[in-house]
Amino acid sequence: MTAESVPAPTSGRSCLAIVLAAGEGTRMRSARPKVLHAIAGRSLLGHVLTAVHDAGGTMTAVVVGPDAEPVAAEARRALPGAEIFVQAERRGTAHAVLAARGALARMPDDVLVVFGDTPLIRPQTLARMRDALAAGAALVVLGFRPKDPTGYGRLLLDRGELVAIREERDASAVERAIELCNGGLMALAGRTALKILEQIGNDNSKGEYYLTDAVAIARAMGGKAVVIETEEDDVRGINTKAQLAETEAALQQRLRQAAMDAGVTLVAPETVFLSSDTKLGRDVVVEPFVVLGPGVTVEDNAVIRSFCHLDHAHVGKGAVVGPYARLRPGAHLKDDVHIGNFVEVKQAVIETGAKANHLSYIGDATVGAGTNVGAGTITCNYDGVAKHRTEIGRNAFIGSNSALVAPVKIGDGAYVGSGSVITHDVPADALAVGRGRQAIKEGWAKRQRELKPAPKKKTPAK
Ligand code: UD1
Ligand code: MG
Repeated sequence: MTAESVPAPTSGRSCLAIVLAAGEGTRMRSARPKVLHAIAGRSLLGHVLTAVHDAGGTMTAVVVGPDAEPVAAEARRALPGAEIFVQAERRGTAHAVLAARGALARMPDDVLVVFGDTPLIRPQTLARMRDALAAGAALVVLGFRPKDPTGYGRLLLDRGELVAIREERDASAVERAIELCNGGLMALAGRTALKILEQIGNDNSKGEYYLTDAVAIARAMGGKAVVIETEEDDVRGINTKAQLAETEAALQQRLRQAAMDAGVTLVAPETVFLSSDTKLGRDVVVEPFVVLGPGVTVEDNAVIRSFCHLDHAHVGKGAVVGPYARLRPGAHLKDDVHIGNFVEVKQAVIETGAKANHLSYIGDATVGAGTNVGAGTITCNYDGVAKHRTEIGRNAFIGSNSALVAPVKIGDGAYVGSGSVITHDVPADALAVGRGRQAIKEGWAKRQRELKPAPKKKTPAK
């Protein structure tokens, strides 16, 4: 399974998703554009693009502010087909949507407007909005009932029908008492979307072009506006670092629950940190206090013991990792491998059944099946200028505290004596010993003791 939400069913209709990401995010107090902050190992923008893709988005337009090349680059990385549109001036949400006029003019069946800073939106929720369009609505608004409605637009209903959305600063006292609020996200029927958006004016207290005015215009054109209600998490927007942390916590809860639902044992789920793309097999056991960064796959029955950190790593079936192990990018453990405490693995394939149980660094290496890497073994992969590879064959034995100076090859079935510094290739089935010879000096220690004066006797205290 993946820890992510399952893709929602698609209706077979074409769908343009417009992602608004032109906001400055000043309240984050950060040099980084807001939508490039990450939760669960993925940028906020990446989460939103994944959700629209999983909701069956066939075209995606990302609206960015001026000088936002890093945002555009992240959009293309997360969803290679994404088209970028620039909103040169921030003049409101409707103005931002119209920046993607070129995409709207292609008349998709469905248009989804989503915010780049609302990362927990689920594909199922977007799919429900699309279903309402398929059922004939001209416009669909995502409503929710926040614990504190301050700052949100209120949904004005008349006999169950959505009549208008009133921004808080333009609302009357009676309107402000309404609990049903606008989550901000909207779906529009593609055939009328552009006509509606072009009629939106900026006659309000902020002088901005409000997307929310689309409701009244759609109705005036004879279209039906509909509200779909959802949970607050779906529309949880991020404006501050504190909200970033709260949203991370909410997403971690979702990911842990999804992992357990799929048959993973999390001994203390609240202490395990997952990434959105984490893939955990059946009956994987994750002990307390483990961090799984992006790009991690753990196959069936493997055990990740306490205090491990994994990042872009693969753990094969039945393998045991940790406690206290670090798997860095490119660590690829085949089935039944054992990686023990204080072992770091980077850019290395560890073949089936091989073991490195204590205190080692294995980087830029291959370790053959059944090989035993003794405590304290170091692959010396870097000479200060370039990285070099260490290749260890099958069923080899590397004695404790050996330094394998790359580039170097250790043949199948070879032995390396403990404490060796290996600088030349070792043939298969050979023994290599590369250390100072042991010398014995008979009686040396005894003589040494005899040279020392006898210790003074302490005078007893009076
Ligand atoms: C909006 C809704 C409000 C709703 C709330 C939910 C409007 C007019 N109001 O208000 O009813 O309750 O979301 O969170 O839509 N953006 C641009 N360019 C712009 C303006 C905004 O890209 O010119 C982007 C922002 O980066 C953000 C999103 O649009 O991602 C929403 O804008 P924001 O200013 O946060 O709208 P709210 O005032 O929160
Ligand atoms: Mg907002």
